[in-house]
Amino acid sequence: MKALVLGSGGREQAIAWKIAKSPLVSEVIIAPGNAGTFLKTRNADLDINDADAVADFLTKEAVELLVVGPEQPLVGGLVDQLLARPELSDLHIVGPTREAAQMEGSKDFAKAFMQRHGIPTAKYRSFTSDEREAALDYLRNEERAPYVLKADGLAAGKGVLICQTLEEAEEGLDSMLGGKFGHSADTILIETCLTGIECSVFVLTDGKSYRILPTAKDYKRIGEGDTGLNTGGMGAVSPVPFIDDEFMTKVKERIIEPTIRGLAEDEIDYRGFLYFGLMNQDGDPYVIEYNCRMGDPETQAVMPRIAGDLVPSLLALRDQSLADTENPGEIEETALTVVAAMKGYPESYAKGAQVIIYGEDSDDSIVFHSGTTGGGQDIRSCGGRVFAVTALDRGIMRARKRAYERMMMTCFDDMYYRHDIGKDLVEYE
Ligand code: AMP
Ligand code: GLY
Repeated sequence: MKALVLGSGGREQAIAWKIAKSPLVSEVIIAPGNAGTFLKTRNADLDINDADAVADFLTKEAVELLVVGPEQPLVGGLVDQLLARPELSDLHIVGPTREAAQMEGSKDFAKAFMQRHGIPTAKYRSFTSDEREAALDYLRNEERAPYVLKADGLAAGKGVLICQTLEEAEEGLDSMLGGKFGHSADTILIETCLTGIECSVFVLTDGKSYRILPTAKDYKRIGEGDTGLNTGGMGAVSPVPFIDDEFMTKVKERIIEPTIRGLAEDEIDYRGFLYFGLMNQDGDPYVIEYNCRMGDPETQAVMPRIAGDLVPSLLALRDQSLADTENPGEIEETALTVVAAMKGYPESYAKGAQVIIYGEDSDDSIVFHSGTTGGGQDIRSCGGRVFAVTALDRGIMRARKRAYERMMMTCFDDMYYRHDIGKDLVEYE
C-alpha cells in the first residue's frame, strides 16, 4: 500500500523512514518534505493546510494510510474534512479531529479537561483580554515567582513566558493581552510553576485502548546547560533513564488511563499520536501540556527504537482495533539525537547555506533532514533547524560519542549545535 506523511521536518522524515521499513508498504510519499530521502520514499508538493488539495492527492495516488505530522492542519480541522469525503471512507488516518486536537490547540480546553478528569497538572486560571485587572489581581494575590503565563492558542512553542519577578510578569501579561502574540493570546492562562525534570511520554490511541511508545527527553533551550531562548528542540534522548517502572506505573494510572477514559467519556473521538509533556516533581508526574502529534526532535530518537512493524498499529486506529494488534516493542539501545541549527536560530538566521553530509546512514547512525531543500550534490539550508543526527548504542555515553562523531562529518556555514545533549542523564543510568 501507499502511505502519505504530511509535513516537512525531521519528525516526518523519521515517521516516513519507519513506515517505509514495513513490508506492508510499497511507497511513502512525504508532502511537502525536504531534501532527505530514503528507500521507498519520495516527495510531493502539496499545501498540507488545504484539505481539498490533500483529498484530491489522496484519491489520485490511491493512498491507503495518512499520517499528519504537525499540529496546524489537525487543529485546523483537516481530518474532519477528509472524513467527510465519501470517496476517502477506506482511508486510514493517523491524527485527531479538530475537536480532539483542542487538547493542544487550546490550553484552556486542555486544563479544563484535566481538572474535570482529576489528572495532575499545575493549578491555573484563565482570563480573557477584557479581564486584565482580574488577571493582575490573581498574579499579585494568588501566585508567586516564578510566574508562568501562557497564550491559550497555538503559538509555535513561543506562547509561554516564565517570569522571575512580579514586574516582569505584569509586563508579560500586558504584552500578551496587548496583541503581541496575536489571537493565540485572546485568552491567557496563569499557572503555578512546577519544578523538577521534564520528560515526554508518547502514546498511540484509537480512542479505546492505547499503546505506549518509547519515552524521550527533549532539550528545548538553545544554549548548553539549558540556557537561552526556547526553541522547537535541540536534541533528544530515548529512553529516559529516570522513567523507571515505578514512575511509568504512576504515569499510566494517574495520567494516560484517565486521559483516554476522559476523552471517551466526553465523546471526543481521538485517533492518533498523543504526546504527554510531563514534569517529574519529586517522583510524581504532572502534565505540563498535551500535544496532538509526535514531538520534534523526539520522534527522531523514538522511531529508530521501535523494534517491530509500526504500520499494523497505525492501520488499526480506523476500526479501533489497536488492542488486537501485536505490540512492536522497543529495542534496548539508547537513541540520541543532536540537532544542527543555523546560527541565529530561534531568532533570525540566514538561508541558502550549502549543506554537506558525509558518511552512510546505517541502523545505528541516521541523518534526518529538516530545513533543507534541493538534492544530490546541492542541498541548501532553508530553515532554522537544518538536520539532526541520531545515533544508537548501548547507553547514553556510547550513543553520545557515536552521534557527535557523525556530526563531525557534516557541515554548513554558521552551523550551531549543542554539545551537551544527554550529559545530564548519564547519572540516572
Ligand atoms: P508548553 O508550550 O506548554 O510546552 O511550555 C513550554 C515550556 O514551558 C515547557 O516545556 C516547560 O519547560 C515550561 N513550562 C510550561 N508550563 C510550566 C509550568 N506550569 N511550570 C514550569 N514550567 C512550565
Ligand atoms: N520538541 C517539542 C515539541 O515537538 O513540541
